[in-house]
Amino acid sequence: MQRPEPRLQRKLLAWLLGPLSVLFLLDAAAAYYGSLRLSDQAFDRALHEIAREIVLHTKEEGGVVRLDLSPAAENILLVDRDDRLAYRLLGADGRHLGGNPGLSTAEVAGNGRPRFYAGQLDGHDVRVVDAWMPVDERPASPRVRVLVAETLHKRTRLAWEMLATVIVPQLLLILMATAVVWFGISRGLQPLQRLRAAVSDRSHLDLSPIAIDDVPGEVRPLVEEVNDLMARLGRTFDFQNRFVADAAHQLKTPVSGLKAQIELALREQEPQRVRHSLAQLYVSADRLSRLVRQLLTLARNEPGALATVQLQPLDLEAFALEVSMEWAPHAIRHGIDLGFEGHGQPLVIDADRDRLRELVNNLVDNAIRYSEPGGRVTVRTEAAGEGQVKLSVSDDGPAIPVEERERIFQRFHRLLGTQEDGSGPGLAIVSEIATLHHAQITLEEDVDGVGNTFSVFFRGSEATPPVS
Ligand SMILES: Nc1ncnc2c1ncn2[C@@H]1O[C@H](COP(=O)(O)OP(=O)(O)OP(=O)(O)O)[C@@H](O)[C@H]1O
Ligand SMILES: [Mg+2]
Repeated sequence: MQRPEPRLQRKLLAWLLGPLSVLFLLDAAAAYYGSLRLSDQAFDRALHEIAREIVLHTKEEGGVVRLDLSPAAENILLVDRDDRLAYRLLGADGRHLGGNPGLSTAEVAGNGRPRFYAGQLDGHDVRVVDAWMPVDERPASPRVRVLVAETLHKRTRLAWEMLATVIVPQLLLILMATAVVWFGISRGLQPLQRLRAAVSDRSHLDLSPIAIDDVPGEVRPLVEEVNDLMARLGRTFDFQNRFVADAAHQLKTPVSGLKAQIELALREQEPQRVRHSLAQLYVSADRLSRLVRQLLTLARNEPGALATVQLQPLDLEAFALEVSMEWAPHAIRHGIDLGFEGHGQPLVIDADRDRLRELVNNLVDNAIRYSEPGGRVTVRTEAAGEGQVKLSVSDDGPAIPVEERERIFQRFHRLLGTQEDGSGPGLAIVSEIATLHHAQITLEEDVDGVGNTFSVFFRGSEATPPVS
């Protein structure tokens, strides 16, 4: 497996070292120009000395100023190991008195302090000193203008040397800081690496929570959310596993029964008996198809199905009456007196119409199925106080024993000895649909040992029902 890049580590390092490098470069530039100024100051003084020496070789005779600089003396003054030097001497009237006429006097020389500036000589950058000086000590001595130029090698070399002494330790410091920061970040991110390893080493079936003791506070909420998600996934997996196991178990018996019936029918010769077997097969297949429908309904109403529930305002009174009337022919066939008692006014709840029909159907079906012929079943709707709306289905058959009243809501649980057709998911479906409607179910007997009343308490809706 390819290791993911430690991007966070790189980003942190870039954010720390990026600005630090920019600061370093600014600092280096400032240090370089500072060094250049210092080296200029040092060498300018020497240049000014040379200018003074040259003026010492001038004489005034009869009002005429003359330069008397022997080649040997000029050599001593102007020959340097590193740089080229040149001078030029001008009289007060601007007359050229000696030196290199190529040395430009473009700058206007001030009459006070010597001036230093950058210039050009034969295509080279030079530093120039430009000064007016008296020829001798006399107060009325004539003045001359002297320029001395020098190339920049010494100066730049000195500037670089000074810069190096400042910058090299700084550079080393930055390299050391990088190493320390890299190490620090790696240490700081170690818990995240461990977390990654803990998650990637897991089996896809392991949905137990990730340990958060070692997780840094910043990522703890994220890990808690992931744990929460895994817990929910775990519940869904459990539900589905249970469902598949239940469904397979429930289907096994009727399918085997069906097979046995078919084998029997195949052995029949007489058309009359074959027909009879086929009729029985039809009933069995019908029962099986009801069971499959119920299983699908159970799967559809699993606890996480809230997202698919479409709760809309609905008048429970009108709805319960409509469903009860659909059951009337069936009740009559079973000799049951099916009645409806309403509240007299609309009772609005927020409900998913199809699921609510399933709920009422199951309760009425049970009441008719488990009552003796001649019995009475009543569907009732009423306001139950505190904004609640109650739907109840009562029968006058034998009461369900107290110890069974909770268990019958479990999937596939049936009372021992129940003779009637059925597989057992009916009340589990009722219970799940009630939960999806935030409703509660109760079961009570009417009088000692006789009659069952299943009541479902819904929250009344604020809205008025749409006209249907
Ligand atoms: N009104 C009732 N009177 C007496 N017993 C009841 C009543 N309603 C339910 N029971 C008992 O509770 C059991 C569970 O009912 P449930 O509706 O869940 O399953 P079922 O009716 O057996 O099968 P099916 O899922 O096909 O409806 C029934 O088998 C029956 O024993
Ligand atoms: Mg039932």
